[in-house]
Amino acid sequence: MMHPQILLPTLIAHRGYSSAAPENTLSAVRAAHRAGARWVELDVQLLGDGTPVIWHDADVARCSDGRGKLRRMDWPQSQTLDVGRWFGSAFAGEKMPSLDAMLALLNELEMGVNLELKVSRGHDPIALVERVVPIVLEALPTERLVLSSFDRLALRHSRTFAKPERLALGMLFNRLPKDWQAQGREIDAFSIHAHWGRLKPAQAAAIRQAGYALLCYTPNDPNAFHPLWSWGAASAITDEPELFRRYLATSTV
Ligand code: G3P
Ligand code: MG
Repeated sequence: MMHPQILLPTLIAHRGYSSAAPENTLSAVRAAHRAGARWVELDVQLLGDGTPVIWHDADVARCSDGRGKLRRMDWPQSQTLDVGRWFGSAFAGEKMPSLDAMLALLNELEMGVNLELKVSRGHDPIALVERVVPIVLEALPTERLVLSSFDRLALRHSRTFAKPERLALGMLFNRLPKDWQAQGREIDAFSIHAHWGRLKPAQAAAIRQAGYALLCYTPNDPNAFHPLWSWGAASAITDEPELFRRYLATSTV
């Protein structure tokens, strides 16, 4: 396996610093940077008009002052939403970020990103990949990008855009399936992103043995997560980057 030289950070701020700012926004990424995080995890999807945006859910109800499905919305409509006030009045007026705006900020801050290709129910993984992958390959250097997904088709199609040495692909799993090794080979995966609480030590060992980097989502208690460092975890994808940073500064992992 030929893989890019990616220096994975011990902590990755999940959806930006999502316990301190509205998730998946420019503010959340700035907050992560201020808290000392050098990488963020973000979700990308397409609006109905094909515009790639940074957003987690299939609809806008939970994280905005509006309602409705993302795939029924165009860019001008998306920009009428306030995506900050639900989190706190200090964030009132925050707008849903386009992928382009987010990439510009990541480059300004020189941050790395684990970009998750989020395939919501009823969304087309191929359309998502065709819009997003060329843009991120153009915008980001190899060593600051890991593209991940729960969606096998999205990962397979992403691989057709770049070789393993140029594009790190991460397979997201809730529970590790029996055929994870075959799935990894199929796309020449760089990493496996596992649910930290469901992962077993023997599975972690097998992942490391097979040569994949192990990233874990979404631990928020550094003490509870502690054993997973010795299992070979490279990164904790956390809503609490500040807690993890302080913990890592004082304990040996
Ligand atoms: O990429 C890790 C994690 O974000 C996967 O789950 O639902 O938070 O996108 P979710
Ligand atoms: Mg995600």
